[in-house]
Amino acid sequence: MSNILEIKDITVMYGKSVAIHDISLNVPEGKIVTMVGANGAGKSTTLKALAGIVPVTQGSICFRGEELVGQSTQEIVRKGIVLVPEGRHLFPHLSVYKNLQLGATLRTDKIGIQEDLEYIYDLFPKLKERRKQKAGTLSGGEQQMLAIARGIMASPKLLCLDEPSLGLAPVVIEQLGQSINDINKTRGVSILLVEQNVHLAFGVADYCYAMSVGAMVAQGDVDCISSTDAVRKAYFGG
Ligand SMILES: Nc1ncnc2c1ncn2[C@@H]1O[C@H](COP(=O)(O)OP(=O)(O)OP(=O)(O)O)[C@@H](O)[C@H]1O
Ligand SMILES: [Mg+2]
Repeated sequence: MSNILEIKDITVMYGKSVAIHDISLNVPEGKIVTMVGANGAGKSTTLKALAGIVPVTQGSICFRGEELVGQSTQEIVRKGIVLVPEGRHLFPHLSVYKNLQLGATLRTDKIGIQEDLEYIYDLFPKLKERRKQKAGTLSGGEQQMLAIARGIMASPKLLCLDEPSLGLAPVVIEQLGQSINDINKTRGVSILLVEQNVHLAFGVADYCYAMSVGAMVAQGDVDCISSTDAVRKAYFGG
């Protein structure tokens, strides 16, 4: 099976300090890959490097056979990599519908946009109900749905989710897992999921990576990685 994404030995510096070093990671076409790790491990930095938000000082990021290092965020979005950032970054004073429309800013295929909107309203009926409501007045769970939905409106081939479960109740996290699966299975979108909630991450993922202090420390299938020392210590109390 071919990889839609191949990250090879990338390093990112913030000033003189190394945030991540020699990070390598693959996402096979059509799969869900997860990256877990404690606070400050470098998960968001890895996603930001992939999205062209922070510069890479070394290494290569290959997406569908094409090098991304040096390309702008806009070019990267056009190629099909969409990041739903940590903290959601919605426009709180704009309506749900307007936030969704803004996700499709770079698109011109009107029919495709309408189809994606219908898919989103099917997947998240609450967003349809509340489409005229200001985004800032939604519940935390609804805001996370909207952030993901806005990502889908950009028509991703690879959807990158940065800690979508943050601050959500267990029952909402459970629904979130089902939505992530639906997006992957019915839309064929490959997914790179960054999470600290290992139950969500390992519940949906086909393959897992674990990061610690700027480095990749373990990788494998769900069963295999959850028994590694690094992951046991960090998440399951040793
Ligand atoms: N803009 C920045 N300037 C300087 N240092 C930064 C910047 N952003 C992140 N860092 C540092 O880089 C390291 C990795 O941060 P990053 O946000 O990637 O971690 P993370 O794994 O996403 O953590 P969390 O789970 O808390 O979101 C941390 O030590 C952090 O302090
Ligand atoms: Mg982070």
